[in-house]
Amino acid sequence: MATGAVIYYFSGTGNAELSAKSFQRQFQAVGTGCDLIRMEDVLKGKVRSEPGKYDPLGFGYCIHAFNAPRIVYDFIERLPPGEGRKVFLFKCPGDGFLQAGATSMIRGRLNEKGYAVFHETLLVTPANVLIRIDDGLAKRLYAVGERKIRKSCVEILAGKTRLQENPLWLAAISRLFSWGETRGARYFGKSLRASGACVRCGRCAENCPTRNIRLVEGKPEFGWDCMLCMRCIYECPARAITAGPLNFFTIRQWRGSSDILADPSVNPKNPKYHRLLTKKVREYAENP
Ligand SMILES: Cc1cc2nc3c(=O)[nH]c(=O)nc-3n(C[C@H](O)[C@H](O)[C@H](O)COP(=O)(O)O)c2cc1C
Ligand code: SF4
Ligand code: SF4
Repeated sequence: MATGAVIYYFSGTGNAELSAKSFQRQFQAVGTGCDLIRMEDVLKGKVRSEPGKYDPLGFGYCIHAFNAPRIVYDFIERLPPGEGRKVFLFKCPGDGFLQAGATSMIRGRLNEKGYAVFHETLLVTPANVLIRIDDGLAKRLYAVGERKIRKSCVEILAGKTRLQENPLWLAAISRLFSWGETRGARYFGKSLRASGACVRCGRCAENCPTRNIRLVEGKPEFGWDCMLCMRCIYECPARAITAGPLNFFTIRQWRGSSDILADPSVNPKNPKYHRLLTKKVREYAENP
C-alpha cells in the first residue's frame, strides 16, 4: 500500500532542493504526502530508497552540461526493478536554452529498470557557475517555478502525460557535452585547493556527494572523483576553497537562493537580465 509520493533528488548548491521542497508543499496542499530523499544519502547507505512504498515516484536534479549529473545515473543503477511504477521528472537548469538538453537517456535508464516516466517539468533556476544573476530575477524564477510546480502536481496526480520531445540531435548534444563535463570534472576536482583561511571544520568532506574530499590533519585534500557540483566551494564558511586556474567557473559573489528568497528587500518585479542569459530565460520569467 503506497504511502504517498516520494522525490529522489540531487542538488549541488540548493536550487533543485528548493524545487523539491516546493513539489512537497504542493502535494501536501492537496492532501498527498511526499517524502524527500537525497540520492547521495541512498548511495552512501544512510537511507533506503524503498520505491515500493510510494506512488508516484519523482526524480529531480540540477542540470550539468545539458544532462543530469552522473550521480543521478548511479542512483538509478542501484534502484530495484520498477515493476511498472510511475515516475515524474523535474530538472533545474540555469538557462532554458535547448530545454537544458534531452531527457531520453534518463528516461531510457529508468525504462530499462522497469519504471514508466509519464511527466516532466522544466524549472529554470539561478545559474551557479560563470554568472551571478540578478537577485530579483532569482526570486522571480522561483515564483514562476512555484506556479509551474502547482500545475504539474495537479497533472501528476491526475495521471496526465506530459513528456519533453527529445530529437536525436538534442540527445547527441547532451551526450557530447556530458561526456566532456564528466572528464573535465576530474581535473576540476584535482585543481581544488583550501587556502590558509581554512578553519578545519570538516564540513566540505562531510558534505561532498561523491566522498571526494578527505581530511589530512583537518585540512581537505581533493581526489579524482569530483562531479563539479560546486557545493564545497560555496558552502565553505571560510570561503577557503578555490579551483586554481579553473576558478573562472565559480561565482565570486556567490549568494545561495534560500538567502535571496528570505530577503524581503529583493524585488522580483523588474529584474535585470545578464547579457549571457539567453532570451529563453526572459520568456520563462515574463510569460510563464
Ligand atoms: C558543471 C555544471 C554544468 C552546468 N551546465 C548547465 C547547462 O548545461 N545548462 C544550464 O542551463 N545550466 C547548467 N548549469 C547550471 C545549473 O544547472 C543551475 O545553476 C542549477 O540551478 C544548479 O542547481 P543546484 O543548486 O541544485 O545544484 C551547470 C552547473 C554546473 C555546476
Ligand atoms: S569547509 Fe572550508 S573551512 Fe571547513 S574544512 Fe573545508 S575548506 Fe576548511
Ligand atoms: S569535491 Fe567539491 S565540487 Fe567536487 S563533488 Fe565534492 S563537493 Fe562537489
